[in-house]
Amino acid sequence: MNKLQSTTQLIRTPKRRLITSALPYANGPIHVGHMAGAYLPADIYVRYLRSAGEEVLWVCGSDEHGAAITLRAKIDGTTPREIVDKYHVEMQRAFKGLDISFDHYSRTSSEKHHKVAQDFFLKLLENDSFEVKTQKQYFDEEADQFLADRYITGTCPKCHADEAFGDQCEKCGSTLSPTELINPKSTLSGAKPVLKPTTLWYLPMGRHEEWLKDYIENGMLKGKAHHDAKAWKSHVVGQCKSWIDGGLQSRAMTRDLNWGVPVPVEGADGKVLYVWLDAPLGYITATIEWAEKNGQDWRNWWQNADTELLHFIGKDNIVFHCIIFPILLKQHGDFILPHQVPANEFMNLEGDKISTSRNWAVWISEFLENNPSGSDPMRYVLTSIMPEQRDSEFTWNDYRDRINNELADVLGNFVNRVLVLTRKYYDGVVPCAPKKDALTDVDKSLIAVLEVAGEGIGDLILRHRYRDAQLEAMNVARRGNKYLTEVEPWKLQKNDPERVRTIMHLACQVVGNLGIVLEPFLPQTASKISVSFGVEGSTWKDVSPTIVNDETILGDLPILFTKIDEETVEAEKAKLGNKGG
Ligand code: 2FM
Ligand code: ZN
Repeated sequence: MNKLQSTTQLIRTPKRRLITSALPYANGPIHVGHMAGAYLPADIYVRYLRSAGEEVLWVCGSDEHGAAITLRAKIDGTTPREIVDKYHVEMQRAFKGLDISFDHYSRTSSEKHHKVAQDFFLKLLENDSFEVKTQKQYFDEEADQFLADRYITGTCPKCHADEAFGDQCEKCGSTLSPTELINPKSTLSGAKPVLKPTTLWYLPMGRHEEWLKDYIENGMLKGKAHHDAKAWKSHVVGQCKSWIDGGLQSRAMTRDLNWGVPVPVEGADGKVLYVWLDAPLGYITATIEWAEKNGQDWRNWWQNADTELLHFIGKDNIVFHCIIFPILLKQHGDFILPHQVPANEFMNLEGDKISTSRNWAVWISEFLENNPSGSDPMRYVLTSIMPEQRDSEFTWNDYRDRINNELADVLGNFVNRVLVLTRKYYDGVVPCAPKKDALTDVDKSLIAVLEVAGEGIGDLILRHRYRDAQLEAMNVARRGNKYLTEVEPWKLQKNDPERVRTIMHLACQVVGNLGIVLEPFLPQTASKISVSFGVEGSTWKDVSPTIVNDETILGDLPILFTKIDEETVEAEKAKLGNKGG
């Protein structure tokens, strides 16, 4: 860990951090790809900050507008309201099941959010942020609706793929506008659309190219460096730069639809805010709701230069958080800009893309219902393969191997060994600390691991390297196992019980520390260990070779992990692609 520690001084501690995770569309259940993208990494980050005594607020909520919702309602033959009400509840069940510890979870169809979004829009209008244009747009005469975004498909003008959407070609990733599509077709009726004039409020993004370039590349804002900008992930910077280099086009910030936040302007009946204007403002609404409940001033979190703002998202949301939302915040004038956007790439599943329509997914709520072992095994595997720098892949064989060979054989086995031996030799009472001169070189090197573990793991978390951070936390257990194997207390107990007291004291210290350093990753396991080893009130600052008090009476600790058998693996694989669930 020495190499890592040498960079620690680069991290400046902000006064407070506001964390957001992408508001998931309330149009379907949450799967492993969602979790590994925007929620689990944020949960690890926030749990660590809380344990380290930092001021942090984490908000999220359901994204309840846009074509994702209305098209889903159409397919299901129901109303958008029914869809969002159903999934707003269902998604929270999944988050709770995986111990995702938001401070506040909101929703964008609430009256409160409509007011926040409309006020924000009016301030933008006042600041002359838009160009209002009346133009011909595609219209479906059968469905009596203008067609934007996912309501219209056609051949991509760039790569000639079929079924490109009105806002984007998923094949080549190009950003499109509906009028660019070749052979356009309505998603609603399949009809060929006609052109009809309508008025739209456009955000002229080209005006912002200059400062955005600087903001993305150099992390300089109004001449003031924000420390983490240099550490933006290269794929995030790369995507933003390619957008900016391609020239920023004006983008319509309103839509002619009847589901969404109504445009608060006279004569704008039947028009709503573009979902990508309304959704990120949901972060602000969530903060206001939380602040009202907790007697705080929400402005401290959004309008105070001492606050650092971090958005956890998947890679499909990068341009909205790194380009469009910063433009909106800056145009408004009173807000800080995002300091860090640690976007993750995608997680594939058993050799294919995760797909809701093909049921090629591992659904979190369903999985947890059928697996009574709690959230930790799934959290552990998702963190181990988190797509931090490139796409990754979830497979059930890998899931089984990681639970059996790592959680059960390394962590579970070590903790159990220490507990069993302490019970056997001392009736479960932790032996007192040895005198310094009784320590051997092997003991000293174990102590050295505990001396740097907290800082080393914390540093990796602050740098959004969650896979490595979890690996380092597990290495503490690995190191403990290795120590016991090397010093073999069971061979010494008869002839040198004093030496064994030293060994077991140190082994108990290792387990006690695991109760703290594993908490961001495996909260349930960490809590069990903490209670059993008497460190439940301890924090990250207490991680050290003396965290467990002498003569602590160890409490009961059930077997931490059950191994996964072949049958379970095969049953999970068989569910994939099976529409009956
Ligand atoms: O991609 C999505 O699921 C969007 N609902 C994310 C919105 S993030 C933010 F802007 F709210
Ligand atoms: Zn294309």
